[in-house]
Amino acid sequence: MDGEVTFWPSGKSIKVKQGTTLLDAARRANLPIRTRCGGKAACFMCKVSVRPGSELQPIGENERRKLSGLEGDHIRLSCQARVAGKVIVDIPLDPLRAAVERQLARQAEENDDLW
Ligand code: FES
Repeated sequence: MDGEVTFWPSGKSIKVKQGTTLLDAARRANLPIRTRCGGKAACFMCKVSVRPGSELQPIGENERRKLSGLEGDHIRLSCQARVAGKVIVDIPLDPLRAAVERQLARQAEENDDLW
């Protein structure tokens, strides 16, 4: 059986083989997830939020140790979490992009105040 991963906020879905990591699925969908360690569960930068009910393979001991409890909040390392069926993932905004969007929103509010 194949898996299917839907990524938010883009809403893009991609079919993948079971066992594919969420990081690989995102790359195949042309959706960037920041990494520094190349998928070795060392940098902690590839965190994503997985919606409840998503079908992932059981979490590995290495990932569980790295997350130290965050997995209970549905946070997973995309380089370690492997697809088992249908999965819905929220990719956090890149911090730089989030800062730019906040600044643009502030400027838009200031411009509205001028009218
Ligand atoms: S890519 Fe570094 S922890 Fe996942």
